[in-house]
Order: sequence, then C-alpha cells, then structure tokens
Amino acid sequence: MSKTHHGESIVLASSNAGKVREINALLADEEIHVIPQSALGVPEAAETGLSFVENAILKARNAAAHSGLAAIADDSGIEVDALAGAPGIYSARYAGPGASDLDNLNKLIEMIREVPPEQRTARFQCLMVYLRHAEDPTPVICQGTWDGLLLDTPRGDNGFGYDPIFLVPSEGRTSAELDPETKNRLSHRGQALTKLVRFLKGES
Ligand code: IMP
Repeated sequence: MSKTHHGESIVLASSNAGKVREINALLADEEIHVIPQSALGVPEAAETGLSFVENAILKARNAAAHSGLAAIADDSGIEVDALAGAPGIYSARYAGPGASDLDNLNKLIEMIREVPPEQRTARFQCLMVYLRHAEDPTPVICQGTWDGLLLDTPRGDNGFGYDPIFLVPSEGRTSAELDPETKNRLSHRGQALTKLVRFLKGES
C-alpha cells in the first residue's frame, strides 16, 4: 500500500493559512501536489477527538469523503509543562470558541507570566496523517515534536500562532524570528512532513 502518488492530487485538510503556507513550502520541491480543502468547498470537520492523532484522522477523513481524493491532515498544538500539558489539543481555541491566534497568544502569556522562566518548558506537537481514501483502514501517521521555552514578551513577525513566544534554544530566537526555511527544517510540522514525504516517495 505504500505506493507513491506522483502526479495525483491530494487534498490538504486545513484552512489555517499559516499551516497551508508551511506545508506548501515543504512540498514545493517534491512531485506532490496538494489542494487546500477550502478550494474544493470542503466544510470544516468537528475536532471531537481527545488526541492529536484522532483529530488529524477526523479531519483527513472528512476531506477525503467530500473530495473523493487522498487527504493529508495536520493536527498540532503546544504543550506547556507548567500548565500540565495545556493547551494541547485545544491550542486553536484556548481563549474560547472562535478565538483568534492573537487572543490565544495573549491568554497563554497571561497563564505563564508568573511561572519562573526556567520552568517554562514547552513543546509543539504535530500529527500528520495521510488517508488514501475516506475509509482507508491503515492511515499513515507521522509525528514531529519541537522543544522550546516560553517568553512572556512576543518577538518576531514570521510564522503564526504561538511562534512569537516560543524560544528555540539552539537558535537563541523565537520561532517567529526564524526565516521560514529554518523554521520548516526544525519544526514539529517540518519533521512530521519530512517523514510523510519519505513514505509517499516509497522510501519508507
Ligand atoms: P489545529 O488547527 O486544530 O491543529 O490547531 C493548531 C493550533 O496550534 C493553532 O492554534 C496554532 O496556532 C497552534 N500551532 C500549531 N502549530 C504551530 C506553529 O508552528 N507555530 C505556532 N502555533 C502553532
């Protein structure tokens, strides 16, 4: 079943502009063509799972069912140790239903402000799932994890979401201060997608 899909279109089950941009950049050099689900009129899936992988599968299945295409979905978020892993799978709605990236960022800053800097360990998680069709019983599941430390003052204009407060220790910069290529090389999403590309190209 690990056939390559060169030339075949794959629907990308995300409407998050930041994610779509990163995933497109990562796939640009590959012969893998993805179409964002918004371009095909696919409605958003309800993210009712209790884990990243469940939500990624729900999103990919929804996009495959509505489009008739193979689907890739990314479910991701940030886990903060001092907050017992929150916001985790609720990262996109941390400040409430319909919250913007900025609302969520400001809420996280409030939540960690009193935490001593050395205890502000956190990590981004990304679960990237590939379904050959909506009823595919063996989804391909790839995971990436990116460790960092949280700042209480945003820095940088690149990226999206929680990037302005996510300090990448090896770079001495926040994820929003990294150029897009560097973020893609290091990030949770970059790691997960690199594994998926390897699989799709039949090298797994
Ligand atoms: P999802 O679309 O349900 O997977 O939600 C992902 C959430 O995690 C969003 O709120 C994003 O802001 C956040 N997130 C995921 N990946 C990143 C990233 O690379 N940088 C910053 N925030 C991210």
